[in-house]
Amino acid sequence: MKRIAILTAGGDTPALNATIHGAVVRANQRRVEVIGLVKGFAALLQSGVPHVLLNPLFTEIPELDPTRGGTLLGASRAYVDPSDFPLLDLVAERVKRMGIEGLICIGGDGTLNGLQPLAERFPVVLAPKTIDNDLGLNYLNEPDEWVLEGGPGQPVSYRRSPSRTRFDLEHMVNYVTPGYATSVFVSTEGVQRLRTTAESHRRIAIVEVMGRHSGYIALGTAYGQPDIILVPEHALDIERLFERVKEIYELQKNVLIVCGEGVVGPDGEVLGAQKATTDPSGNVALSGASEALRRLLIERFGDDYFRRLRRAESAAAAIFTRKVGHTQRGGRPILFDRVYGGRLGACAVDMLLEGQNNAFATLDWKPAAGFTVGSAHANSLRDRWGLIHARQLHPSFYDRELLRPSQIGIEYLMPIFTRAVGHDDLEYLRHATFDPGNLLRPYHSVNTDINKLMRYLGSLP
Ligand code: F6P
Repeated sequence: MKRIAILTAGGDTPALNATIHGAVVRANQRRVEVIGLVKGFAALLQSGVPHVLLNPLFTEIPELDPTRGGTLLGASRAYVDPSDFPLLDLVAERVKRMGIEGLICIGGDGTLNGLQPLAERFPVVLAPKTIDNDLGLNYLNEPDEWVLEGGPGQPVSYRRSPSRTRFDLEHMVNYVTPGYATSVFVSTEGVQRLRTTAESHRRIAIVEVMGRHSGYIALGTAYGQPDIILVPEHALDIERLFERVKEIYELQKNVLIVCGEGVVGPDGEVLGAQKATTDPSGNVALSGASEALRRLLIERFGDDYFRRLRRAESAAAAIFTRKVGHTQRGGRPILFDRVYGGRLGACAVDMLLEGQNNAFATLDWKPAAGFTVGSAHANSLRDRWGLIHARQLHPSFYDRELLRPSQIGIEYLMPIFTRAVGHDDLEYLRHATFDPGNLLRPYHSVNTDINKLMRYLGSLP
């Protein structure tokens, strides 16, 4: 292969530029040109296919900075409809006309789901990324446990049959995805900062973190020492929650609850799915889990409780919510994400050059070897109907009694986070935050520079 392309699909994560950088550095070593497609799959849906040559003369362009969050290529949730054959053929023809011999998509489970029809037309591999950490498997035969329900004329839904596999951390496929560590770094700090307000004003704080239907970010936020963690994998037991919150509040006059945005109520309904809207990838937009939880607690506690204790005028005044929101998806990646994002990007290049197709790079962990990169075929994640499901927390990671990570949950987190922050991360904080130049210079967006390098189909030799 002489020329490959790379794109960033789905929501941004802090490790995207690091992954692109790793891919380009490896491509330089192997004398392969790398074309960056602008705004994910959206580039291939336009006749002009906006793109940038990322390594002229096999040297990466200076705009490609692995320590910078987001993606210099731009990202979108656009995808190629797998049932639209004329469109798929058009995409393949554009790829061919550009002399692109293989494509690397940096994405999550949604992106990998959509790769198969493209992989029937040209080689395509995935370098994983997602702050949600939901791309992978808890154990090898996990996809076989999905059961499709509903018959003709009925809505179809998926259900998990009981597992017959003994869980072992070493058998996880794709232990962790780049972006997750930085996201937890941000949510942990958010919790620590909100704690002091809750403590000083005798309040109950509910902090909502992202992660869709997987509780990994909520679980990792345990590093901020919240009192209670609620994950989407375990339906809420309102009475149990109320009792626990009351017990802690009476002891220490403040409570900090972390809730994953996808937490479900006792009826199995997602608490925060207030809006029945979906994004272009078909994901339900989640908003309002913490607010829904707050309403439940306000009703259960009542105003008198707080007045009697002389801590607040009303339950509404005592219980507040904050969303960590998109701050946990943006900004500078911490060391763990930079290192492994880069290694997975490099691995994706090697996979294409080795002739792999419809496959993804993996980051695996074993106690003796630590983290290693490898690869797996996309089909290893597909259920028998061909669908890839977002990975959820293994039930053993969470202690339902204590509402916090279990012992094995803690063992899962430690290899990722114990040395996740590097010395340079601290140096950056020291030097860059209050750099006097920040007061003088307006923000200079990388988009401005990339615009100057942009080419369109037809301009390549
Ligand atoms: O999948 C990543 C993620 O950040 C989720 O955790 C969250 O639900 C969603 O994307 C938010 O998407 P958007 O940026 O489109 O609102």
